[in-house]
Amino acid sequence: MDEQALHNALIDLAIPQIHYFEETDSTNERALALAAQGAHEFTLVIAERQTAGRGRFGRRWETAAGASLAFTLILHPSYEELERLGLFSFLGAVAICLAIEALCETKPQVKWPNDVLLGGQKTAGVLAETTWHGNKLDGLVVGMGINLLPGSVPPASEVMFPATCIQTHCDYPMVRLEFLASALNHLVFWRSKILSTEFLEAYHARLAFIGQQVTLIPTEGKSVNGKLIGIDQSGKIILMMEDGNEIAYPIGDLRLRVAS
Ligand code: BTN
Repeated sequence: MDEQALHNALIDLAIPQIHYFEETDSTNERALALAAQGAHEFTLVIAERQTAGRGRFGRRWETAAGASLAFTLILHPSYEELERLGLFSFLGAVAICLAIEALCETKPQVKWPNDVLLGGQKTAGVLAETTWHGNKLDGLVVGMGINLLPGSVPPASEVMFPATCIQTHCDYPMVRLEFLASALNHLVFWRSKILSTEFLEAYHARLAFIGQQVTLIPTEGKSVNGKLIGIDQSGKIILMMEDGNEIAYPIGDLRLRVAS
């Protein structure tokens, strides 16, 4: 990526500093270190290649140079936002969806909590992480990995969920810097409205599998089956159990349930 072109593409956005790496371990790792050193809100870390890109639940995330986007934004949640940090990973997913809708005129969906799907296949993932100093939050980072061009799609044998790239679903040529600027623009816009009803509505309007039977695979313990109802104010997923009770779950991996 041409660093000057990167700066030019983002010139109109409220980004105080850009840290660009041809190669780094993980933009989230770099961003967490910068946040702990006091980096400002909306500081951007972006890399062409990651040697230790990571996904949710400690999974690996591959970044194909020239074809994908891998970047992380540093944020400083306010005192009121601390109660609902889960919403910050939604922010990345909503921003990516809006960029796809703006540049591609196609309809993405979000697989809770923050996988972006096109045609039911994953085209982007978001990983939000925090760094703490004792019980004081030093910063929160929102890392986004986007499969933009065909070379970015990992082989089927390497992924847990079918993958695709945005270009495959789009008639217009996708330009990485243009997509990046659009996603960041949407993210900056919604960041100040993260606790608003409008933000939850923007997320909910794109939520996949509503009304369908799903399986939620927790980090520990048994999977649960239920009908997907929606999300609550803090971003937990609400499932309706067979007995009609609705239960909100804070974390897990969601799958559409295949009738047996
Ligand atoms: C997931 O779907 O599991 C989340 C994937 C998040 C990947 C991005 S790429 C940029 C940032 N740096 C990382 O190490 N991970 C995130």
